[in-house]
Amino acid sequence: MDTFQALVARQDEDRISTAVETLTTADLPPGEVTIRVLYSSVNFKDALALTPGGGVVRKYPVIPGIDLTGEVVDSQSPEFAVGDMVLAHGYQIGTGHHGGYAEYARLPADQVVPMGALSPHDGAAIGTAGFTAAMSVQALIDWGIAPDAGSVVVTGASGGVGTVSVDLLADAGYRVVASTGKPQAAELLKMLGASEIIGRLPTDPKAKPRPLATARWAAAVDCVGGATLADVLSAVDYGGAVAASGLTGGPALHTTVMPFILRGIALLGMESVQMAIGPRRNLWARLGDSLRPRHLADITTEVDVKNVVEVVDQVRAGAFTGRAVVRVAGGF
Ligand SMILES: NC(=O)c1ccc[n+]([C@@H]2O[C@H](COP(=O)([O-])OP(=O)(O)OC[C@H]3O[C@@H](n4cnc5c(N)ncnc54)[C@H](OP(=O)(O)O)[C@@H]3O)[C@@H](O)[C@H]2O)c1
Repeated sequence: MDTFQALVARQDEDRISTAVETLTTADLPPGEVTIRVLYSSVNFKDALALTPGGGVVRKYPVIPGIDLTGEVVDSQSPEFAVGDMVLAHGYQIGTGHHGGYAEYARLPADQVVPMGALSPHDGAAIGTAGFTAAMSVQALIDWGIAPDAGSVVVTGASGGVGTVSVDLLADAGYRVVASTGKPQAAELLKMLGASEIIGRLPTDPKAKPRPLATARWAAAVDCVGGATLADVLSAVDYGGAVAASGLTGGPALHTTVMPFILRGIALLGMESVQMAIGPRRNLWARLGDSLRPRHLADITTEVDVKNVVEVVDQVRAGAFTGRAVVRVAGGF
């Protein structure tokens, strides 16, 4: 293990390039737990890390990959022993700290999550996107949205957060409306449990947004932001809530106070990056058990780490469906 392979991203003026490089363990950052990485994944944030001006990487060169799963090969922490199967994501992994697109990673023990009942493959298949989906669904339940409240719309439904949200909500008995820009994903979304498939929101992007529209949704899981989130907010029924996590449709939010003060709805912010390790480990334990997505195999595509850039291009264009698991061990 003195040397190992890694996909390294480097910035050259306004261009970001990636190449497989041979590193030594001395190149790994400090941390108590050294992990032989088995799998990583591709999230929208990984695409941003490889996009000039993406705004998520503080300093190149960096090993991207915001998710990783694997086996502990060295531990200076009483919490972990050699041979333990673990996963990690969030904090600065894959952005400010070397991430999962390498045969080895080293992390502080308080950023490491025991794998529990999940396999390393399924842990990566869930990854940051699936974890955020679980956070979103739990936030709506905690807000008091019951399955008989009405329809829950999921935007960006064919993506990572979207597909896992549809799966989890349908499994919990909610009536799910999947909003997607990909007609070809309709069959998959129905198989995951969506009762209805609609196009992206707003239906007419050129129409003047209305502060309040006819109430259509009991609640929403939104990972798109921008005009989509504004449209969703205007159509959430009295007492409803929106779990908002993303910005694939843009970061700007043009809305009014009307949905909040006339319908008492809540905009619930989802933030998976800084979540403390205790609740993070608890939610992962549930993802391996009572909250385990039923259709992971159906939404997952596997790719070798040496080919990850091809998937990144699709994710960046909003053209990828489901979750991409990155095979790291044996994938160089
Ligand atoms: N807050 C957090 O902690 C957190 C955690 C995870 C992810 N996120 C964010 O959540 C978002 C989704 O992440 P992901 O990994 O699930 O990404 P993803 O797999 O790429 O899915 C995003 C989906 O958004 C839709 N989309 C793409 N471009 C769009 C556009 N211009 N307008 C409207 N819809 C568009 C597409 O779905 P359709 O084609 O089906 O419409 C796409 O599949 C990202 O912004 C990510 O940064 C945040």
